[in-house]
Amino acid sequence: MLTGERVVLRGLRRDDLPTIWAFNNDLAVELAGGGDPPMPQSLERLQADTDREAAKGGRDGATFGIEVEGTLIGFCGLHNFNDTARTCELGIAIGDRTRWGHGYGRDAVRVLLEYAFRYRNFRKVWLWVHAKNERAIRAYRACGFVEEGRFRQHVWSDGAYDDAVQMGILREEWAASAAEKGGEDPSG
Ligand SMILES: CC(C)(COP(=O)(O)OP(=O)(O)OC[C@H]1O[C@@H](n2cnc3c(N)ncnc32)[C@H](O)[C@@H]1OP(=O)(O)O)[C@@H](O)C(=O)NCCC(=O)NCCS
Repeated sequence: MLTGERVVLRGLRRDDLPTIWAFNNDLAVELAGGGDPPMPQSLERLQADTDREAAKGGRDGATFGIEVEGTLIGFCGLHNFNDTARTCELGIAIGDRTRWGHGYGRDAVRVLLEYAFRYRNFRKVWLWVHAKNERAIRAYRACGFVEEGRFRQHVWSDGAYDDAVQMGILREEWAASAAEKGGEDPSG
């Protein structure tokens, strides 16, 4: 549905579930992703959750699978929509660890930012990341996110407390950096 330089973002399919199940049961991916402590997930529960959501019909909000040359490597999306302030939260997980550090993450985030600002008319996109997740922070910075705040020793992760860092990017910051690259104001 959306195409970056290296990734395609598309809706998820039922036959993606075994791959997603493997991602969700990979300890390193779970720890890096933050949020809840790692917990096993059965394929049956994942299927049941998916079926329940799918039974509602309609569209999938802003949840995408990340595909590289026809292979699903992760998923990403926007959530926590605030319709008054026009803000939303971004989340991403490349579940195939062999694909980390190859630029796919930042490409997917750039595509998601364009989706958020250009197609969904958000004004600001924000996210939380663990301070020790340097790979993620570097990728977000490369996409124009700046650190906005830090909750000290706020999360328990992998046997230690860690800071939770909030990062954000405003529409005009995105437009300026995209214009620098592309030569014209993409919001324009
Ligand atoms: C975070 C994530 C989306 C980033 O995507 P990615 O494709 O791996 O990242 P990129 O290749 O675009 O950029 C990685 C950056 O980290 C650097 N990096 C690579 N390996 C690293 C490592 N082991 N430690 C620190 N930095 C590292 C790279 O050099 C690059 O930075 P640079 O461009 O300044 O040199 C992806 O790694 C991922 O999904 N990880 C697991 C889940 C997760 O952490 N989700 C985010 C939760 S907030």
